Amino acid sequence: MFPTGFVWGAATSAYQIEGALTADGRGRSIWDTFCSQDGRIVGGDNADTAIDHFNRYRDDVKLMADLGLTAYRFSVSWPRIQPDGSGAYNAKGLDFYKRLVDELLSYGIDPWLTLYHWDLPQALEDAGGWPSRDTSKRFADFAATVHAELGDRVRHWSTVNEPWCSAFLGYASGEHAPGRREPAAALRAAHHLNLAHGLAVQAMRAQNADSQIGGCVNVYPVTPATGSEADQDAARRIDGLQNRFFLDALLKGSYPEDVLADLSHLSDMEFIQDGDLATISAPLDMLLINYYSRFTVSGAPGGAASAAAAPTDSGSPWIGSEHVGFVNGGRPVTSMGWEVDDSGLYEMLRRIADEYPRVPLYISENGAAYDDTLGEDGTVHDPERVAYIDAHLRICHAAIESGIPLQGYFAWSLMDNFEWAWGYGKRFGLVYVDYETQARTMKSSALWYADTIRHGGLLSRAQ
Ligand code: FCB
Repeated sequence: MFPTGFVWGAATSAYQIEGALTADGRGRSIWDTFCSQDGRIVGGDNADTAIDHFNRYRDDVKLMADLGLTAYRFSVSWPRIQPDGSGAYNAKGLDFYKRLVDELLSYGIDPWLTLYHWDLPQALEDAGGWPSRDTSKRFADFAATVHAELGDRVRHWSTVNEPWCSAFLGYASGEHAPGRREPAAALRAAHHLNLAHGLAVQAMRAQNADSQIGGCVNVYPVTPATGSEADQDAARRIDGLQNRFFLDALLKGSYPEDVLADLSHLSDMEFIQDGDLATISAPLDMLLINYYSRFTVSGAPGGAASAAAAPTDSGSPWIGSEHVGFVNGGRPVTSMGWEVDDSGLYEMLRRIADEYPRVPLYISENGAAYDDTLGEDGTVHDPERVAYIDAHLRICHAAIESGIPLQGYFAWSLMDNFEWAWGYGKRFGLVYVDYETQARTMKSSALWYADTIRHGGLLSRAQ
């Protein structure tokens, strides 16, 4: 049994589900541009319609209520609310989120709002994007306005979803929008995403002391493939870029010295200005953790074959450590090729609880893609996803028992959706979506999750 008050949620993001890219005065985002370019998205997919959540949000909220979710984590689309990322706000865009939030509240579902899940207004990218410091300031203005408009009905706020992805997939490997391959710019982007977080926290705190405000990071335990010095160095480097660059900044107010040293050939770091790290590390009410898998890495010359294959032609996101190879750790994999390792979740929770100032923790994303199919009897049988979530929830339970301040869990994702550069080929949902008809069908994992929530804990080990 989980403690009373444990948050049982599911998560989505605006770009992956909404569609309606030109409705009601929405501006363009970097993902609109990216999807229109050849070779960026598997199969040439785009999110023009996505899963039509913009028009179907009432039905989708009803599904959440049927599941018994106590909370729903979603993101707002910046260009829907502020089409050019600066200047005029679009009241109709804000209205959509007001309607969504009111619908959630009418079922007693707590809205958890993420301000940025990767859909930067194109106009801001044209002005330099995240490598430009001004984007952080634009984001704080945006956060302040959304918070002023929705702060009366949304209590839980998070700033930037997975800054690692925005910075390093967006500006170093080019796997994500805007698709740039500029390591030095990616490093600036990473700092400005952190700064954007800090400035947004400041702007929201100035308005309403009651809001619960957090940052959101994606963490991976990193294991060296062997005990060799090269492999251990590879693990230190990847852990530094993936985990410590963001956790240390947000929670300790510093960047790891070894990571800055690894990157010194790229920049003199003049973009890190006095006071930035104090802004970035202002106290948080909660930390949102996205967890999917573990990395096993090799630093051997020649590099081992990468187990973490990219879907499209892209470079390395691991700036300054491009030589590191990602090795198959021998665990079962999901259809993303991501290794299933629930023990890694415990490892990261323990480490965050032990090494950083104590702050309430939430798993804000966790889940798995499998090749689900709709059976002729109209059901979707996904025992592997049940087993994945069951195993990770057991870890959450063990973490709580051992005193780690973990207070909730959000499955990724509520529904199948547009999985970025992978397009629609990867299904993460508890709910199956037929992309032709937009019909929603609860998978067996959704029914199982609903039972779990109703019970307030895990019934018996999932098969
Ligand atoms: C995370 C993203 C989310 C989704 C999952 C699978 O990195 O935050 O949008 O793509 O991975």
